[in-house]
Amino acid sequence: MNHTQDLLDDLINQARPFAIKGKVADYIPALSDQDPTDLAICIYSLDNTSFYSGDYMKKFTLQSISKVITLALVLMDYGEEKVFSKVGMEPTGDPFNSIAKLETHKPSKPLNPMINAGALAVTNMIKGDTVIEKWDRLLEFICHLTGEKVSYNEDVAYSELQTANLNRSLCYFMKQHGVITGNVEDLLVLYTKQCAVEMNCVDLAKIGAVFANDGIDLETGRQVISRDVARICKTFMVTCGMYNSSGEFAIKVGIPAKSGVSGGIMGSVPGKCGIGVFGPALDEIGNSSGGLKLLEMLSTKYSWSIF
Ligand code: DON
Repeated sequence: MNHTQDLLDDLINQARPFAIKGKVADYIPALSDQDPTDLAICIYSLDNTSFYSGDYMKKFTLQSISKVITLALVLMDYGEEKVFSKVGMEPTGDPFNSIAKLETHKPSKPLNPMINAGALAVTNMIKGDTVIEKWDRLLEFICHLTGEKVSYNEDVAYSELQTANLNRSLCYFMKQHGVITGNVEDLLVLYTKQCAVEMNCVDLAKIGAVFANDGIDLETGRQVISRDVARICKTFMVTCGMYNSSGEFAIKVGIPAKSGVSGGIMGSVPGKCGIGVFGPALDEIGNSSGGLKLLEMLSTKYSWSIF
């Protein structure tokens, strides 16, 4: 039996007790159906080999992990100057859905693209004349990154759209201050579909591997994300990817990573591999409890901290 495979099986067993300590997100009603005992991991190496263990076939929605992908697309379309005129580069100690800094921080643009306000401003910039055109463009980009035909979970998207009143407030606030333009409901339709894009941890690890490989597709050798944009995205993953526990994560794990409230975490170990983790039971910050434990043990075992 391969050493990496044995290690992943062992880590899954060790992390299971930590996974069930958390709680499945329920502020998006459709997410509350998830099984809190699920736990899965995949490592996708830059030589195009992968190892996976646990409930690796289970599909989950990307939620906030999608924010990194949209940022990459929009940065490639418009360049840094335009994108960062609408969204900042600084971490925030506030929860991911907070509105507080929009009012107290001047100019009143969102602090970074990994919090909800910043992500909504970035999604607002996706090229296209209609929601459908923008959505098709985003989905095509995600399919390029995974090399698979991916789609979205309609129930989760609809469930979030019905209940997204905090995000609605963020949008109206930003519209008033000229950070976003256009119809707020259209933006929410697009954003909730983006967050509901669905895949398993193997697909997710593959996207992480593209970032780890400086934006070069592992199979075709094509530059699907520019090197500079891949670097910017990984930097945001380090400084803001795990929300208001990004500092603790940097110390304990030290891998560029992005979490989502469905329980997914995408990791990207520069020059080595992508990691996809799934465990829907979350800690109080909104990060996967079992996923955090898995990444901490894995990074320690292989000395993968970039610091
Ligand atoms: O906008 C929201 O609240 C969700 N669609 C995504 C939030 C999220 O994943 C935060 N992650 N930890």
